[in-house]
Amino acid sequence: MNAVSELNIVHGGLTTVLERLSQRFDLIDETRALTREVRQLERRLIDMQNGILEVRMVPLRQVFDKLSRVVRKVSRESGKEIRLEVSGADTELDKLIVEELSDPLMHIIRNAIDHGIEMPSIREAAGKPRVGTIRVGARQQGSRVLVTVSDDGSGIDPRRVADVAVNRGVVDQGAVADMTPSELQNLLFLPGMSTREVATELSGRGVGLDVVKTNIARLSGIIDLSSTRGEGTELTITLPITLAIIQALVIESAGRTYAIPLNSVLESLMITAAEIQTVEGREVYSLRNHTLVLSRLEHLFRLERPADKPRPHKMFVVVIGLAQHRLGLVVDDLVGERDVVIKPLGSTLADVPGIAGATELSHQETVLVLDVPGLVEETLLRPPAATEAA
Ligand SMILES: Nc1ncnc2c1ncn2[C@@H]1O[C@H](COP(=O)(O)OP(=O)(O)OP(=O)(O)O)[C@@H](O)[C@H]1O
Ligand SMILES: [Mg+2]
Repeated sequence: MNAVSELNIVHGGLTTVLERLSQRFDLIDETRALTREVRQLERRLIDMQNGILEVRMVPLRQVFDKLSRVVRKVSRESGKEIRLEVSGADTELDKLIVEELSDPLMHIIRNAIDHGIEMPSIREAAGKPRVGTIRVGARQQGSRVLVTVSDDGSGIDPRRVADVAVNRGVVDQGAVADMTPSELQNLLFLPGMSTREVATELSGRGVGLDVVKTNIARLSGIIDLSSTRGEGTELTITLPITLAIIQALVIESAGRTYAIPLNSVLESLMITAAEIQTVEGREVYSLRNHTLVLSRLEHLFRLERPADKPRPHKMFVVVIGLAQHRLGLVVDDLVGERDVVIKPLGSTLADVPGIAGATELSHQETVLVLDVPGLVEETLLRPPAATEAA
């Protein structure tokens, strides 16, 4: 993988030299011949990248099989009757991602059995079938894979979550009052949010969904929860197919260069300062009658604008999206698209929010790759009260 990345850089260097050559010696046969060779090289490089990626792809089946064993064991121990339905086990992901997915999925399944599915007698009394159903499914959507786990259990009561959050000092009473049921349910992803008073074999130790969320985020994924009281709960994990080689949109802001993974970019637009509105202290743009929250990259990363790079009159909005969330990143310029190999940052920089890693664009230039789930999280999803508490 690293060798491919080095070769990509060499290819980039060749292309630059070739461009300069053809500017000087316009129509000579050698530059044309060289252009053809460089194109060939490019095609072979793409084949090689795809080959490496393919070798790394494995079906999710191996993880799903493990889950059925857990369901059988845990349902026996808990006295609950549970049927597991699996779909999309052939869906493939990079093996590094599949390996890291096992623990989070296991935890979500344990939660579904422990908190979701009711005892058979209670289910009967509520007019539900005695046997509870847990569905685990995977499907590909563009360059992402969605993994869902749903149960037809008791669901999550937002008011109960609110009580727990206030009692445990996670958010204050005032903040809870302003939250929607879905925002309340999403508080369960914060540390210390177990609704169990006493720890059991399965739950209540307080290392739960918060750890699941952190681990999914480490895979550049995002997790969403939706639940209806009495009917059940569904968790959706959105993951990239691979973390290794990605197509990236290279952008510039305040004189710095960054790469944005293209699979999270929905579109980019050119706008003028006059088209930006401010609503409740947030900059927004009206995109086909939908309000798009804007975030300026220079503010996010607290960049100092160099004197020779004044804020341009025309700027670009890169619309990034993840699951159902949308955010408009305001940048100065779009440089172009590149295939890049993401390299992790060293441990000192690993926890900087909004940065997924670094990549080399040329021998001289190393740029940071933006972490789209992180940015969406930071800007759109973080409950305001929790930020204060943290
Ligand atoms: N499938 C589900 N159905 C209903 N409630 C759920 C479900 N999954 C999670 N919950 C709720 O979310 C809370 C937080 O879950 P989390 O896994 O973080 O903690 P826990 O399971 O209580 O304890 P532990 O930290 O040991 O896992 C649970 O206490 C429960 O109230
Ligand atoms: Mg749990």
